[in-house]
Amino acid sequence: MIYKTKIFSPAFFVFSSICCCLLFFQACTPAKMPEPLVSLIPKPTNLNLHEGHFTLNKDTKIIVDPDEEGLYKIAGMLAIDIETQGGILPEVIQGKPQGTDLNYIHLTLSSPVDTLANEGYYLKVSGETIILAANDPQGMFWGSQTIRQLLPAQPTKVPLQIAALEILDKPRYSWRGMHLDVGRHFYPVSFIKKYLDYMAMHKMNTFHWHLTEDQGWRIEIKKYPKLTEIGSRREQTLVGHAGSQPYVFDEQPYGGYYSQEEIREIVQYAQDRYITVVPEIEMPGHSLAALAAYPELSCTGGPFKVAGTWGVFEDVYCAGNEATFTFLEDVLTEVMDLFPGAYVHIGGDESPKARWEKCPKCQARIKEEGLKDEHELQSYFIQRMEKFLNAHDKKIIGWDEILEGGLAPNAAVMSWRGMEGGIAAAEALHDVVMTPGSHVYFDHYQGEPSLEPLAFGGYTPLHKVYAFEPTPETLSKEQQRFILGAQANVWSEYIPTTEQVEYMIMPRMSALAEVLWTPAADRNWEDFMYRMQQQYRRFDAMGVNYSKSAFQVRHDIKVDSVHKEATVTFKSDAAGVDIRYSLDGSAPTPASRLYTVPFTLSESAIIKAATFQNDELMGQVTERTVDIHQAFGAPVTLSHPPHANYTGSNGSGTLVNGLAGSTTHTDGAWLGFLGVDLEAVIDLQSVKELSAIRTSFLQQPGAHIFLPAAVEYAVSEDGTIFNTIDSPSLSDAPAQGTLIQKYEATFPATKAQFIRVRAANVNALPWDKEQRKRSTWLFVDEMVVE
Ligand code: ACM
Ligand code: ZN
Repeated sequence: MIYKTKIFSPAFFVFSSICCCLLFFQACTPAKMPEPLVSLIPKPTNLNLHEGHFTLNKDTKIIVDPDEEGLYKIAGMLAIDIETQGGILPEVIQGKPQGTDLNYIHLTLSSPVDTLANEGYYLKVSGETIILAANDPQGMFWGSQTIRQLLPAQPTKVPLQIAALEILDKPRYSWRGMHLDVGRHFYPVSFIKKYLDYMAMHKMNTFHWHLTEDQGWRIEIKKYPKLTEIGSRREQTLVGHAGSQPYVFDEQPYGGYYSQEEIREIVQYAQDRYITVVPEIEMPGHSLAALAAYPELSCTGGPFKVAGTWGVFEDVYCAGNEATFTFLEDVLTEVMDLFPGAYVHIGGDESPKARWEKCPKCQARIKEEGLKDEHELQSYFIQRMEKFLNAHDKKIIGWDEILEGGLAPNAAVMSWRGMEGGIAAAEALHDVVMTPGSHVYFDHYQGEPSLEPLAFGGYTPLHKVYAFEPTPETLSKEQQRFILGAQANVWSEYIPTTEQVEYMIMPRMSALAEVLWTPAADRNWEDFMYRMQQQYRRFDAMGVNYSKSAFQVRHDIKVDSVHKEATVTFKSDAAGVDIRYSLDGSAPTPASRLYTVPFTLSESAIIKAATFQNDELMGQVTERTVDIHQAFGAPVTLSHPPHANYTGSNGSGTLVNGLAGSTTHTDGAWLGFLGVDLEAVIDLQSVKELSAIRTSFLQQPGAHIFLPAAVEYAVSEDGTIFNTIDSPSLSDAPAQGTLIQKYEATFPATKAQFIRVRAANVNALPWDKEQRKRSTWLFVDEMVVE
């Protein structure tokens, strides 16, 4: 514990006992717990509620230490927040509290707690005064955000009251980041400021601004005007998902960039909120927009167009050409002048080596420098850039591919392909920022994909973000110190509007903020959900277009094949709601059955469930089918095993467990086969009379999951001689995009004990004109036998 024990040891008992009570109540009756009196997000390290409150009135003043410009600005922003919420603009005075007039908020760097950490603060609200103390202006600013969250969420005409309390607070990590890709889609300065406001309210301190991409160069560079004249515009943009080929384009020119003046304005705006902006200039890959402007920097000489589709492109900067390095050093010189922070992000991810392999200049460089291969050439590239930036007192950070071929000596690593890159970097004693696709890619779906606007893919609901642990336990204590923190990445291929950005980041930013600020031991999902109720009201008051996907009901259905029963458990990521459901396929209403505890079904049902608050439907309705059919629970033999990542919740039994899969391919209801066909034989255990077989397949082109090329059903009485009963063919033009397709065969009543289902993996990308063989996924679910 860093705090002065002399002052705070008695209080610690109180703090810990409050935590225990909370835990106790939540464990007992989560749905019934009253909303907490204060709802701070991220949750402070230590909070002690007292009796009473401070009431703001027209005479309340904000007093700040003299000659502290930063504090004066913070006080000014706090005064405006108070005016917005309560209609009173407190006067800001520089000086010291004097006399007997106690009606003030005092912001001071002379802290009564002498061991406050960096960015930490101490807040004491009593009936007479509010004291906010910190060692540094950062801590003061985060403290002011706490005061803001202690105000009512919605503007009010009644006098503002702030609960009496004492808070000692400090962040767990120093890198609390949000990334934003403005290359695929471009957002105006006004929105970048909003984004920074959202970060500030969450005590997030690092804005990673992804400024260059294949689809657009977004930062003015005076020495290379064509970067923005040519590189910031594309002729057209892909419509729909990049997996849904053949491609369709909107035929609308698209572009935009930030002038250096605008960038300075944003950097200042961020600085005023104690947010560091980390600019990213991608190299050597994701650079098609720059190459469209300056094709001589490529291996082939071009010409190139700014990309209008999404993906990874083979044309990258030539690593054998000195002009590339001159160009990038010139660009970075202007970048360094614009961004005062310690770090410059140099990208480094997804840079194909195909051009380098064929380029005489690149090959000559490999020889000259005694490099082993193109990976070492990439390492040479990054190390050269690092030397240049280090010489100008800047540090580099790059995506985890910069580990390949040898890490630059002082580089920090941003681990995105899981945690492994970050672990390897920390083991090598390099700084790390964790941004794994599994937990913090906010371009992924946050609710059931079929109910969400088009997104990149994946499935990262609110509770999953909250469960993220940035520091791997496998690292030693010494190595763990290299984990600076984490951030969410917001890639914008499928995020064309600022409203959609808000939808993707909120409320997930709230969960991430707590992961990054609050001590791991104090994180509590139930408690967080309760505090989110107030946070949603704040978002409402701010006009944020946040996602309500957390209000969707998730169905957890366990099947007992022996007793032919299914037990249904519902969950949602929202507190303070009722879950109501129907079993007959009708839409749930406020009068539908109220869910209280898991229940058992022994008959087929179409389950529909939704959350309600004060009888108002809160999220979309989610649906699952339980089908207790003839093959329910029967043994199934597979000729090829499914891929280890997609073995379903119950192996081959998943195919006859009565549950239909959803469009979330990771929902445990699907078996996934990579590059192989499906052959399943169901043993009904005795000869039965059958008249229909129905099998579901998933298509999700973005994940290279395709419907089968052919399906064949056959039945047998003895398990040896099979008679083909129907071979449903693929429909002529398979629908595009994500969908579930059922293949049904109905036939005159037939006696059989064994049913064989075969499905051929397409093993080719439908849009590949040459139909080259490659491994694709075949996803199969429930085989219904009637
Ligand atoms: C990345 O997502 N390509 C870093
Ligand atoms: Zn080259």
